[in-house]
Amino acid sequence: MSKSPETKEISLQVDVNYMMSEYLGAREGISREEIQAKNQEFQEAVRHLKNKRSEMVWRDLPYNQDQVTEQIISFARQKKDACENFVVLGIGGSALGPMAVQQALNHLYYNELPKEQRGGWPRIYILDNVDPERFTHLLDIVDPAKTLFNVITKSGSTSETMAQFLIVVRLLRDRLGDAYKEHVVATTDAVKGNLIKIAQTENYPLFYVPEGVGGRFSELCPVGLLPAAMAGIDIKELLRGAAYMDQWIESKDEIWENPAYLRAVLHYLAYRKGKNISVMMPYADSLKYFADWYAQLWAESLGKRRTLAGEEIFAGQTPVKALGVTDQHSQVQLYTEGPFDKVINFLSVGQFRNSVVIPAGYEDIPAVSFLGGHTLNELMEVERVATEYALVQASRLNATILLPEVTPFTIGQLIYLFEVETAYAGELLKIDAFDQPGVEEGKNATYALMGRPGYEEARAKLNARPVKEAKYILKN
Ligand code: PA5
Repeated sequence: MSKSPETKEISLQVDVNYMMSEYLGAREGISREEIQAKNQEFQEAVRHLKNKRSEMVWRDLPYNQDQVTEQIISFARQKKDACENFVVLGIGGSALGPMAVQQALNHLYYNELPKEQRGGWPRIYILDNVDPERFTHLLDIVDPAKTLFNVITKSGSTSETMAQFLIVVRLLRDRLGDAYKEHVVATTDAVKGNLIKIAQTENYPLFYVPEGVGGRFSELCPVGLLPAAMAGIDIKELLRGAAYMDQWIESKDEIWENPAYLRAVLHYLAYRKGKNISVMMPYADSLKYFADWYAQLWAESLGKRRTLAGEEIFAGQTPVKALGVTDQHSQVQLYTEGPFDKVINFLSVGQFRNSVVIPAGYEDIPAVSFLGGHTLNELMEVERVATEYALVQASRLNATILLPEVTPFTIGQLIYLFEVETAYAGELLKIDAFDQPGVEEGKNATYALMGRPGYEEARAKLNARPVKEAKYILKN
């Protein structure tokens, strides 16, 4: 991928100091000796992962999306002027990545800005639920005639997304007649599922989720690239950042030099010591939804009943989303004094896009006036350092990823880092990090209960489930 002249090579920094026994003591911390003792096992997992690279189609996305990227950019430019709103219909891996990237790279009140301050790009809404109120309320504020709906579903059959799609198509047809087709763009598998059939019959513009790319690993294909491009985000830089991280990871087999392997190993060892929870705590509102995206990636990939060999293990750390500094006033009490069952991951930002000075005032009240002359930027970082300090004092494992700046290039790195870290953690746990049988079961139960043909047997089984007893349901 070529590099535009104005871009800088800003690398993420992965800091694991406070995962180590030097700081946390032998009981809670992880020692170099512990890692060394399992070095053979860890290197074996590195080899496995490398051997499996060609099966992990998502790992090639930073390199093989050039053509589709051009198509997306040209499509986005073509639609830009007439489009006031861009609405994503999707859920899970078809929504969380787009949400995280929008929030990271756009103005934090992007939708409230006048169009010219959005660079002429439409407002972005990502409808990742089937809450009837949210759906109705969205339709209260967007005019379908000025809206482009991007229906995203890899499987082409997810009930939530297809229900949204049916509602939108009916609405558009009623309002716009045949012209409704100009207001739909589909992102789905090229062959499998129902959406592809509908899209081909009805002639919607189509972008494909490459074969073998699972939902939660799909941000760097049209699933994430189209919504990002529709908000004016530099998607080439996003991919270039991912490629940069890939090259870092691929060039270093040694655990201590490889950010994805090192973080995965430390989380794995922590998990083995009973740290069943992995908290993702960005200290930046722009990174808030990265915690949501990470939660799905970590939970769906690693939460598995069986190993690849079929043994029952019920594996997985539970991801928890938090936001600095907000959750210092909500969850940090638990993190410092509650059970020793967590690893806290901070995302910190070196240089925010804005700086806000706290003015002097109330000189007669030193407990207030001391803040004057500092910046909110300083306060944010100081509070993160203070939390880190409190955690270390309480012997709690924590690690930090620093984004020197939040740019498409560093966000591309972050996405790719977490994806490989998750894949490597899956290797260490000896589970399949790329399936989601538990989710499929829920999807199938929904089909059955909603009367989808072919699911009659499942429906009968579900209807025969134990009846809830009134004595356990309290009402006044
Ligand atoms: O990661 C996954 O595979 C899932 O979370 C899916 O993304 C989610 O279930 C939505 O599936 P689909 O894109 O097929 O509608």
